[in-house]
Amino acid sequence: MFDALKLQSPDKIIALMKAYREDPRPVKVDLGVGVYKTAEGNTPIMRAVKAAEKQLWDEETTKTYVALLGDAGFHDVMIDLILGPETVPRENVAAVATPGGTGAVHHGLELIRMSNPDVTVWVSDPTWPNHISILDYLGIKWRTYRYFDAEKCEVDFEGMLEDLSQIAEGDAVLLHGCCHNPTGANLNLGQMAEVAEIIRTKGCVPFVDIAYQGFGDGLDTDAIATRHLARHLPEVLIAASCSKNFGLYRERTGILLGITPNEDAANLVRDNMSYLNRQNFSFPPDHGARLVTMILNDPELRADWQAELEEVRVSMLSLRQKLADTLRERLNSDRFDFVAQHRGMFSRLGLTEVEVQQLREKHAIYMVGDSRINIAGLNEENIPILANAIAQVCG
Ligand SMILES: Cc1ncc(COP(=O)(O)O)c(C=O)c1O
Repeated sequence: MFDALKLQSPDKIIALMKAYREDPRPVKVDLGVGVYKTAEGNTPIMRAVKAAEKQLWDEETTKTYVALLGDAGFHDVMIDLILGPETVPRENVAAVATPGGTGAVHHGLELIRMSNPDVTVWVSDPTWPNHISILDYLGIKWRTYRYFDAEKCEVDFEGMLEDLSQIAEGDAVLLHGCCHNPTGANLNLGQMAEVAEIIRTKGCVPFVDIAYQGFGDGLDTDAIATRHLARHLPEVLIAASCSKNFGLYRERTGILLGITPNEDAANLVRDNMSYLNRQNFSFPPDHGARLVTMILNDPELRADWQAELEEVRVSMLSLRQKLADTLRERLNSDRFDFVAQHRGMFSRLGLTEVEVQQLREKHAIYMVGDSRINIAGLNEENIPILANAIAQVCG
């Protein structure tokens, strides 16, 4: 039976991680997968997470199932974190805990397909490869809208609006929350408001994938564009992840929110969310969600988590500035100044595939083929190595 299976095309990011691990060269630089790392190359457990885990170990008395939708306390704290207290009435929001943000993306797309089997989902060019592969896996039609100006390394807003003018009633538009686009270039609030207006007038639904709240300009500022959509559109889906901003990667902690016009609509969406969990894996993971709930409900743990997240955010801004400055100095050019303007964990550098390949082969520097780098993979030691190597391959 199994010999009828076909080999699946490998996930590029996972293949890159493997190639880096297997590279025997003593000095190598990993700028691939989106995991936060300290200057020493570690991905630490956040202090508040460790403290909450200790408390949970003492206090937890059962591991029995919680609920198909996950714990209601987790829904409440996440709705508050993402949407803030007054963006939409709580009773209009349906929520379901999922295995990571990717689980929420999968469920959100299934929900869209269940609502409109003929839907076209519009995705940014570029987007994360697994957006496309999940859409293909679910057999959902998709089209791309322009997002990035590869020359200027900034958002191609005119191109984006032109392409979004073609969306049709009943379509869905996959949007990136702050810092989530793989290019590092973000829409500002005014631009998101224009996109919201197109989506509203066309009768489409936006689906926001947000995994880096707190990595750009601060927890609330990073959510402003998402909150704008939630406030101004009748229906919005949001897939959120706690992998990055709580450092809970392997605990698979995420949530899907459905913002609806009224309580009855929210109940209907919630019922279908519960159905999706039951059909796919039944009860969602609880450990990470419980830790997040404890942290956000406890003023001391919350303050410590926010302080540590702020350290991470500020350190990435400073790495961006250092890389931009070093490249300016090595190349005697302002070509890479945009790196300091981008936000979050990623920047697309605008190098060619050949240049990216040369960086890997000659300098043991690993980045994704479209020249996207993980800023958190940089440190004082490897910034000059990277800058020198870029100067060589681009020179
Ligand atoms: C498209 C997409 N959305 C969200 C996430 C959030 O990560 P996780 O699924 O680990 O919560 C990822 C991470 O790989 C992703 O690729």
